[in-house]
Amino acid sequence: MPDNVWLLPLKNLDDDARAIKLGEIAVLAVTAEQRMFVGDPLRMMLVGLEEESRHPFVIDSNGVAVGVLTLQTGAATAAGWADDDSAWLLRGFLIDRLRQGQGLGALAAGAAVRAAAKLTAALGGGQSGIVLSVNELNAAGQAAYRKAGFADHGQYVGGDSGPQRTMYRGF
Ligand SMILES: CC(C)(COP(=O)(O)OP(=O)(O)OC[C@H]1O[C@@H](n2cnc3c(N)ncnc32)[C@H](O)[C@@H]1OP(=O)(O)O)[C@@H](O)C(=O)NCCC(=O)NCCS
Repeated sequence: MPDNVWLLPLKNLDDDARAIKLGEIAVLAVTAEQRMFVGDPLRMMLVGLEEESRHPFVIDSNGVAVGVLTLQTGAATAAGWADDDSAWLLRGFLIDRLRQGQGLGALAAGAAVRAAAKLTAALGGGQSGIVLSVNELNAAGQAAYRKAGFADHGQYVGGDSGPQRTMYRGF
């Protein structure tokens, strides 16, 4: 049975808590082979804090950061979705290499769906689910999303790192 995970919205933390979490995020890393699938965690969080459309989250387990993910509004076509606004874009999702394979990724992807539904209820954006694109070579990513209830919506070739699968889960 894996540990539970909590998604902490970085934008909502006070300055001290945010600084502590950014320090923990700075030491997260994926394996060398996985670097083609995702960006640098600290950089992605700092970009997310600056952009209004992005909601950067720390994935916490037992009070310590084990990963990050970002939900973004108005950007779903970047994952091959037909329009920008009917779904949240899930991007920049990773679990630290030392904590992978323990079920945390699937739990965090499921938690992201619940967080996105809450954001839609609070902000009134009208989204009805989450969409993402995952590289066809990324077996772990596809497995984690499938386990969290995401369904394959076909191939997407618009990215710059090879063919992707578009995956979607409604609220
Ligand atoms: C994708 C990622 C977040 C998954 O996190 P995780 O905590 O390792 O995932 P889980 O432990 O929840 O595993 C989920 C499923 O993937 C499977 N899996 C894990 N590693 C795998 C691998 N290398 N190959 C195939 N399947 C794998 C697991 O077996 C599990 O399925 P199961 O329970 O049916 O056996 C993590 O591998 C990661 O950070 N990768 C690098 C960044 C990345 O690719 N992000 C996604 C970009 S779209």
